[in-house]
Amino acid sequence: MGPLDHPREEYRVGALEVDEVADGPLQTVRRWLDEAIAADLPEPTAVTLATVDVDGRPDARIVLLRGLDARGAVWYTNRRSTKGRQLAAVPAAALVAFWPQLERQVRLQGPVTELSDEESDAYFAARPRGSQLGAWASEQSEPIADRAALERRVAEVEDRFAGRDVPRPPHWGGYLLTPTSIELWQGRASRLHDRVRCTWVGGDGPRHRPAGWRVERLQP
Ligand SMILES: Cc1cc2nc3c(=O)[nH]c(=O)nc-3n(C[C@H](O)[C@H](O)[C@H](O)COP(=O)(O)O)c2cc1C
Repeated sequence: MGPLDHPREEYRVGALEVDEVADGPLQTVRRWLDEAIAADLPEPTAVTLATVDVDGRPDARIVLLRGLDARGAVWYTNRRSTKGRQLAAVPAAALVAFWPQLERQVRLQGPVTELSDEESDAYFAARPRGSQLGAWASEQSEPIADRAALERRVAEVEDRFAGRDVPRPPHWGGYLLTPTSIELWQGRASRLHDRVRCTWVGGDGPRHRPAGWRVERLQP
């Protein structure tokens, strides 16, 4: 395998000032996400979710953000999956988003909690039926003999729930990351990027008031 030669990109789309996060970093993250959605970027809500296992070994995979508000960031998954087991053992995570066309990266770190059954039920009920059946059919992260075996499992759950609504599997639901650290990164020319890190110092109440954040510019 040869070296990875790829032309260097110069980043010149935007700039980030510390003042822009004055109303609270989550609001700025939300604005960036909304701008990524408005710009029609592919999978704008896809983020890397990093977890660790009981032995401190890091792991990471992509999930889709399904909520980003004053509480933090929300995604849904099978709680018996590898990531679900890791989060049960070590309830903390990091999330990273990269929107290449906007030359922006966002990093969130913080404790993770399970969303309430009510919230998970409401989200599950709004999913397409095929995804609901898939949530029952797939023991996410477990090995399976072949594709045909998976399709048999789907057929079984189709029969089981024929003619009625598909309830949320008890092991499927949402997680909320409550950020204690948020970094916004805007690419700039000559690798002199803008980085603003916000660290939660206002206690761990549910509402993130702007006054509760220490805001610092970091070197690129
Ligand atoms: C674009 C994209 C979006 C994904 N969204 C989710 C998601 O929202 N929830 C989920 O459980 N897995 C999602 N996945 C699959 C995960 O990356 C991963 O394969 C799966 O959750 C199993 O991870 P685990 O074995 O670490 O638990 C997505 C994958 C991609 C590429």
